[in-house]
Amino acid sequence: MKIGSLPLNNITILAPLAGITNLPFRLLVKKTGCALVCSEMISSNGLVHKSKKTLQMLDSTIEEKPLSVQIFGADPSIMAEAAQIVESSGADLLDINFGCSVKKVIKTGAGVALMKEPGKAETLIKAVRKSVNIPLTIKIRTGWDKSGDQAFKIAKIAEACGVDAITVHPRTAVQGFRGKADRSIISTVKKIVSIPVIGNGDIVTPNDVIKMQKETGCDAIMIGRAAIGNPWIFSQALSLIGGDDISDINPLHHFELMIEYIKTSVKYFGEKRACYMMRSRLGWFAKGFPYSSKFRESISHISSEIEAIELIEIYKQRYLSSALNSF
Ligand SMILES: Cc1cc2nc3c(=O)[nH]c(=O)nc-3n(C[C@H](O)[C@H](O)[C@H](O)COP(=O)(O)O)c2cc1C
Repeated sequence: MKIGSLPLNNITILAPLAGITNLPFRLLVKKTGCALVCSEMISSNGLVHKSKKTLQMLDSTIEEKPLSVQIFGADPSIMAEAAQIVESSGADLLDINFGCSVKKVIKTGAGVALMKEPGKAETLIKAVRKSVNIPLTIKIRTGWDKSGDQAFKIAKIAEACGVDAITVHPRTAVQGFRGKADRSIISTVKKIVSIPVIGNGDIVTPNDVIKMQKETGCDAIMIGRAAIGNPWIFSQALSLIGGDDISDINPLHHFELMIEYIKTSVKYFGEKRACYMMRSRLGWFAKGFPYSSKFRESISHISSEIEAIELIEIYKQRYLSSALNSF
């Protein structure tokens, strides 16, 4: 599987998730075999105006490569300039957001608003394509109604403008993340373009990866929410694809991952900010575990890495003794 000139090891891709897919989270996911990780969506205005916080979102390390960076915006010249900043930062791939349905973004004409303006979309894609050499992708939705006509139109325009692959999240702008993703939209996009199509939406289990590919014929699969708390979904899916049985993940790996996550986050964000973030995030990895609500409560005020690791260790011991007692 190749996107433009970029070869991928396998067909699994981590979705861009605002507020989640920062560098520490991407590094966790990368370890589980995911072929391509994506940044959170990054404001083209923020990049061009050199906002320190926005520029920090471009930080990357060799261990997570290849990296796709997603930008959003509606102004072709600002998007082109932002694209150059992304390319100079060393990103391997650039993605344009055509799917964000948050009001604040739509109001500016960006995200999914672009899907009802094919003329504007074309000008924007052409400007970005001209400004960078790295492979370029776009991530679209079904459009503003269920028909998929807007997705089909934008997909054809993108291909004609030199885009190297298209990700389809087949929900309408109005649906947000509710309801079911309509996979027939992915199948149709796959039929009408000859560049790779990446299927996205409602992958919950490793088996869904196989089903989505069979149903739609898509070239790669992007996983979002299911990777939160279970980054192993990538390795499990890869085992299934390879014809191997998938065994349950050793629960102790969840505790190891929590410790790794807090350590990497402290290294990257500093202790104060990382602990603030981890107060809610460590709980992701305990979902479905006994006493998880008590654990979440215990970490809701952590203020140091040592304290967090101690609480994780206490929870792990409690988990182990409850597992022993249940025999
Ligand atoms: C919390 C959250 C943040 C998201 N942020 C982005 C984003 O920054 N860019 C984007 O293109 N899509 C974003 N999405 C959409 C996802 O990338 C993905 O298309 C959607 O969640 C469907 O895939 P899933 O069912 O595997 O989660 C976000 C979704 C969620 C739930």
